[in-house]
Amino acid sequence: MVASEATPFSKTGGLADVLGALPPALAARGEEVAVVLPRYRMVPLDGARCVRENMPLWIGPGRYTADIYSLERKGVTYYLVDAPEFFDRDGLYSSGGADYWDNFTRFAALCHAGLGVARHLFRPNIIHCHDWQAALLPVYLKQYFANDPTFTGVKTVFTIHNMGYQGIFGKDRLWWLGLPEWLFREDLLEFYGNINLLKGGIVYADYVTTVSPTYAREIQTPGHGFGLDGLLRARTAHLRGILNGVDYHDWSPERDHYITANYSASDLRGKEQCKMELLGIMGLPTDRPEVPVIGIVSRLAAQKGFDLIAPVAYDLVNWDIKMAILGSGEQQYERLFRALADARPDKFGVYIGFNNRLAHKIEAGADMFLMPSYYEPCGLNQMYSLRYGTLPIAHATGGLDDTIDGSTGFKFRPYSSDAMLGALREALTVYAVDRDRWRKMQVEAMRRDFSWAVSAAAYSDLYHMLAG
Ligand code: ADP
Ligand code: GLC
Repeated sequence: MVASEATPFSKTGGLADVLGALPPALAARGEEVAVVLPRYRMVPLDGARCVRENMPLWIGPGRYTADIYSLERKGVTYYLVDAPEFFDRDGLYSSGGADYWDNFTRFAALCHAGLGVARHLFRPNIIHCHDWQAALLPVYLKQYFANDPTFTGVKTVFTIHNMGYQGIFGKDRLWWLGLPEWLFREDLLEFYGNINLLKGGIVYADYVTTVSPTYAREIQTPGHGFGLDGLLRARTAHLRGILNGVDYHDWSPERDHYITANYSASDLRGKEQCKMELLGIMGLPTDRPEVPVIGIVSRLAAQKGFDLIAPVAYDLVNWDIKMAILGSGEQQYERLFRALADARPDKFGVYIGFNNRLAHKIEAGADMFLMPSYYEPCGLNQMYSLRYGTLPIAHATGGLDDTIDGSTGFKFRPYSSDAMLGALREALTVYAVDRDRWRKMQVEAMRRDFSWAVSAAAYSDLYHMLAG
């Protein structure tokens, strides 16, 4: 596999959770798996050994090299691509809100390093690439190595985690990427006058997957295809949705070591302690513990539905609820939540930043979890919430629709503030007047099983089908 982030090395979102958990789940099934990742500045090399020095990376006119470090984790070999001119920086993709200008070469370097690892260090039958950052690999493979015996019979799988991020760059970048001008074609890399790397992955990979069955259907419609729905419809025979799983080793209230008290479906008492602790951490009053706490843990991006919350946020002040909000991202939403916390510190507990420990504490300590995403390829937080008995309130889209039902949470559609408030009201009513039903829903939610084993089996089947 080739990807731009993976826990525990680097993370900005769910992609990292997937690359941290799916490979070990495949290894547990007996597959031999290696993962190629950038070695960013924050990735320590402790325990890793250098297995290749000065591997050449020739990208168009540029001659670069990378040292490849390797380490074993949970039955998987992780290869870290140490190329300081590309990856020794503050952020993964951006710094101070601005994308790095050379992201196209940075991730072309990752793709070349992936091919180098496949040539020299780990001979795969399948190369599985994730998101636009790894999308050039199938392009380079077919373009340059179609007749290279090293890669005979090697098949590529390309997984789309989010259609909203496509890696779009100016036409002149083709030359810098070492790709011929004739790829600038509507049915290849061209996209409204630019080049689109995600599109390259979709066109060139032998098989395309996305991270939930519903999202696989949605992206073939103009509303969710971000301009690529026609291409995806053309590839429909080689496109499938495989639902992500949850790493229950990290995300289970029974053994979570970040939370103050552990609990389970048969004994939920610890959850009340978690709630009290959360209120304290978020600076919310603890005198009326019966008031429901609604949690949010999210990248603060338009995708996540904050434009539904913004227009009604000041109405929520009058509801008998508290909110515990953790997120970072777009300034307009950071500002909104900071302003709410300033206006009503007794109602809104807000932490702007990235904090994994607090994410666990919110999953455990909140009563409900709000996830009104406009679209959601899979979504992991709602699955974590289910496991923690924190009932999700979510827009019925993508993976949210596939993982939540009427006995485990509250879904709404259409995508509107009114519909969202309707679902919220319904949740608050059940919570206030029908404690038995609430408890039953919690137990039902906690017993749902989205373990990686199921998804890994689906990927295995796909690999074996492709490898013949
Ligand atoms: P996406 O990948 O679109 O951001 P997912 O729901 O798939 O959405 O995954 C988000 C992951 O990132 C989850 O593991 C979640 O806990 C984590 N996360 C998001 N924002 C934060 C934050 N501010 N602090 C800590 N963890 C966060
Ligand atoms: C993306 C999606 C999210 C998905 C994650 C992992 O970031 O936005 O829905 O869960 O990738 O596949």
